[in-house]
Amino acid sequence: MTGSFDQIAVHFDRFAELVGGPLDEYLASVLPDGGGERAVDLGCGTGRHAALLAAHYRQVLGVDVSVPMLQLAMARRGLANVTYQQRDLRQVRADTDGTFDLVVSAYALHHLEDLDQALWRIRELTAPGGRVVLIDNVAPTPAVPRRWFLGEAVRTLGSDLLRRRRPPTEAWELLRLNTDPAWLDHLTTDRFLNPTQFTQQYGQVFDASVTGFHPPNTDDDAQDPCHAGQTPVVAVPLTDQGRLARGRGAGRGRCAARPGPADPTCRTGEAPHRQVR
Ligand SMILES: C[S@@+](CC[C@H](N)C(=O)[O-])C[C@H]1O[C@@H](n2cnc3c(N)ncnc32)[C@H](O)[C@@H]1O
Repeated sequence: MTGSFDQIAVHFDRFAELVGGPLDEYLASVLPDGGGERAVDLGCGTGRHAALLAAHYRQVLGVDVSVPMLQLAMARRGLANVTYQQRDLRQVRADTDGTFDLVVSAYALHHLEDLDQALWRIRELTAPGGRVVLIDNVAPTPAVPRRWFLGEAVRTLGSDLLRRRRPPTEAWELLRLNTDPAWLDHLTTDRFLNPTQFTQQYGQVFDASVTGFHPPNTDDDAQDPCHAGQTPVVAVPLTDQGRLARGRGAGRGRCAARPGPADPTCRTGEAPHRQVR
């Protein structure tokens, strides 16, 4: 697993508040009409998406390994129908937790070394007719050097100011967050798939025909390829994350067929977990 979020929870939450609006909108746009019974957010962090799902699902489970992230989730986004648990997302399994009408994971799966196995388990976790929404970063090289993040931070500031994409105080605040040494230490330990690897790995599990992903951009809902029972799998290039303007789509994945029968190799034993209060 790559770097922990324990020391950067507050930082992350503010960063996500500043740049996460488009992803929230995207997520809301791919939820099935009428919501459902049970949803799970794997690697829920500070609970932004769990809270969003709570308006559409009767019960929401958010799991994360980081206690500081979960404490913020509870403090800022504690809701009666959301349960937060400190667990490795790979321990959430159909045989112990049952299945979910919606499985969401955003920017968490690149932290796993055993992605393939985790994807099969996610497929198994999904109830018949349910939906999976998986979102993660991709980059041309597995490790991205510090100087790239610094350059990107400055470029983001420039275009935020030039194009008036956010108030100047927020633009400068984002620069400070993007160039914070502890944040950069974390980002440089991350390891990313490139777009081809992403397509192959996710496509193997969810649909062999997934071949490409739309870059974050589109305002054109008419081209939304997602229909009930399908799986939006979205690769967000690192270059786009900090630049997204509020009110625009965070990215539109090509939709793969909904999960098929469970993979038998995914059946393993129960694992302990801890409720966060
Ligand atoms: C970049 S944050 C994203 C948080 C949230 N999904 C969001 O989009 O706001 C990644 C989160 O994944 C969590 N994480 C990483 N590996 C995990 C694992 N194996 N099991 C559960 N959570 C994990 C981290 O602790 C962190 O909170």
